[in-house]
Amino acid sequence: MGEFDQLISRRGTDSIKWQVKDGELPMWIADMDFKTAPAILAAMQQKVGFGIFGYEEPGKDYYTAVAHWYETEHHARPQTEWMLYCTGVIPAISATVQRVSHVGDNVVVQAPVYDMFYHSIENNGRHVLSSDLVYDQQTHSYTIDFTDLEKKLAEPLSTLMILCNPHNPVGKVWSRADLIRISTLCKKYHVILLSDEIHGDLVFGEPAYTPLFSLPEDLIQHTITTVSPSKSFNVAALHAATAIIPNENLRGSIYRGINNDELGEPNLLAIPATIAAYTQSADWLHALKAKLVENRKLVDQFVSTELAEVQLVSENATYLLWFDVSQVTDDAEKLTKVIREQTGLFLSDGTVYRGNGRYFLRMNIACPTEMVEDGLRRLKQGITKFEAQN
Ligand SMILES: Cc1ncc(COP(=O)(O)O)c(C=O)c1O
Repeated sequence: MGEFDQLISRRGTDSIKWQVKDGELPMWIADMDFKTAPAILAAMQQKVGFGIFGYEEPGKDYYTAVAHWYETEHHARPQTEWMLYCTGVIPAISATVQRVSHVGDNVVVQAPVYDMFYHSIENNGRHVLSSDLVYDQQTHSYTIDFTDLEKKLAEPLSTLMILCNPHNPVGKVWSRADLIRISTLCKKYHVILLSDEIHGDLVFGEPAYTPLFSLPEDLIQHTITTVSPSKSFNVAALHAATAIIPNENLRGSIYRGINNDELGEPNLLAIPATIAAYTQSADWLHALKAKLVENRKLVDQFVSTELAEVQLVSENATYLLWFDVSQVTDDAEKLTKVIREQTGLFLSDGTVYRGNGRYFLRMNIACPTEMVEDGLRRLKQGITKFEAQN
């Protein structure tokens, strides 16, 4: 049995995902039911064995490990001087919202998008201005309406755009050409562009993942790229992320924001675990990706043969699958509830991502194939029950 086939019970741990009733199957929040890479575990164990855990700050080896990873895995080496440590991607986003925009400003996003973006914007008294992604019912894929995006960026109150690359929840990586167009527009209208690239290591096939910081020099001076080993290596509770900011003045401002809220100090495991991920765990990541490809194929096959009324959005990134259930309902919240009540399968309700999310469900397939099969059986059963009731 392979390491990604082992069923490990997380019930009774502090896992948010697994705070569910007996018999329920959670496939919602974005973490994996796989153990992290052995090199990461060894580095953590070594650190714990040392036994003294005073205040720390990331050293050159931390930043060099990040640069090494992007050079070897993604063929783009960011300069180590561009980097700031932060205790998470969302904390870095909130610090950016506070530093580069003012109360009442617009922050541009592309709905449907990761719901925490809305919280970071609205909890800080800024407005969400969405240039909604355009969904094609025929190809089941999303694109950007650049005319609409330009209109929204051009509004005088728009000071920041938060991009999700690859995009959660639609599972799409943006091409280099897309990134160039977005960044050029942001530059034209003096909008700071933050690209959340936490899912960047989990891209399958073409187009490949392009880190925003790898664009030409004049297109990255107003940008912030946030990265983390969190999703790729299943270490969300590590709370370690890096903001990559080429422009010195912008970097200085974000540094102030991060430190003002005391978000710049690592916990005892953050540094050794990140270094082990980025310098010793590429093979593990590649094996993980092979398992995720297998699970994606299985879902694709099941949906096309057993669930004619559901469409799998055909994109190429993340372990979060986005199901078009528009033939079943326009109320994904209700459907999610019925599926959970009737079958115990706990999926994410697309409504929380706004845009056209009320026609979609999101399923996390980063778990052993046996669990994916169980989830698919429950999904079919739940939809059948919902259709019978409505
Ligand atoms: C797009 C995106 N950004 C950020 C996060 C969370 O980042 P962090 O835990 O580092 O704050 C997630 C988690 O699901 C995510 O999907």
